[in-house]
Amino acid sequence: MSPLVIDRIVRETFVVEVEHHIEITSTNDRAVQRAKQGANKLPLMVIADRQTAGRGRGSNRWWTGSGSLAFSLLFDSKTIDTNNGSMPLVSLTAGLAVVETIKPLLPNHEVGINWPNDVVAGGHKLAGILVEVLPGQKTIIGIGINTNNAMADAPAELLPIATTLLDLTGAEHDHTAILVSLLSRLERHLVTLKQDPPQVAAQADALCLQRGKNLTLQTGSQSVTGVCSGIAPDGALLLETAYGLRTFYSGVVVLS
Ligand code: BTN
Repeated sequence: MSPLVIDRIVRETFVVEVEHHIEITSTNDRAVQRAKQGANKLPLMVIADRQTAGRGRGSNRWWTGSGSLAFSLLFDSKTIDTNNGSMPLVSLTAGLAVVETIKPLLPNHEVGINWPNDVVAGGHKLAGILVEVLPGQKTIIGIGINTNNAMADAPAELLPIATTLLDLTGAEHDHTAILVSLLSRLERHLVTLKQDPPQVAAQADALCLQRGKNLTLQTGSQSVTGVCSGIAPDGALLLETAYGLRTFYSGVVVLS
């Protein structure tokens, strides 16, 4: 696999510092630590070849198989429109950048977004996004993409739900090229998020793979079932339920 070219990432993208680890617990945890230490050269990227305790949303773990791409971006929250409180929009913004980067590599597969933070290719999860807002005006966007890892090495419970670029294409993909493309797109979409949030939501809506599907969403202690009508202009999930059209800003889709 080609080595990561850190110089190129700093030269060609908005990332101003890259911290590369061979092994770490979680790049999001390390980004939290750097924020607490007062990191001010932002956006900072923390990237790792292996995570021993990669985190997903809620209590989920993230499998960082050997060859996969796992990184976190630490931002000044002013760069990101989190003030309107619509966290799904930040995840969706990152999801857009991931989908646009991956789609050309998978011309024979449907690639899209499952609200709020999954990138799906050929019906299986290819990437996940974990956004965390920290006290002190800092936001982390953590992204894990199954690139050059193989499902043959994955925990058994992931076999029915996940996939990797290597398995879908039979070829290895250059992490530096993926990152340069993804970060450029992310930079552009974050500007749009600040200036015109509904435009980001509309682009995510166009890529939403859940539309028309019957979904069950677990939100707090509540479980709601309905047919997905896509993504609202403020980033909410739209479900047509027995009680009418309802909007959701958080939750986990447990059944689809
Ligand atoms: C999810 O699908 O639930 C989100 C997964 C996010 C995984 C990435 S990998 C890089 C970063 N570090 C972590 O510990 N998690 C995120």
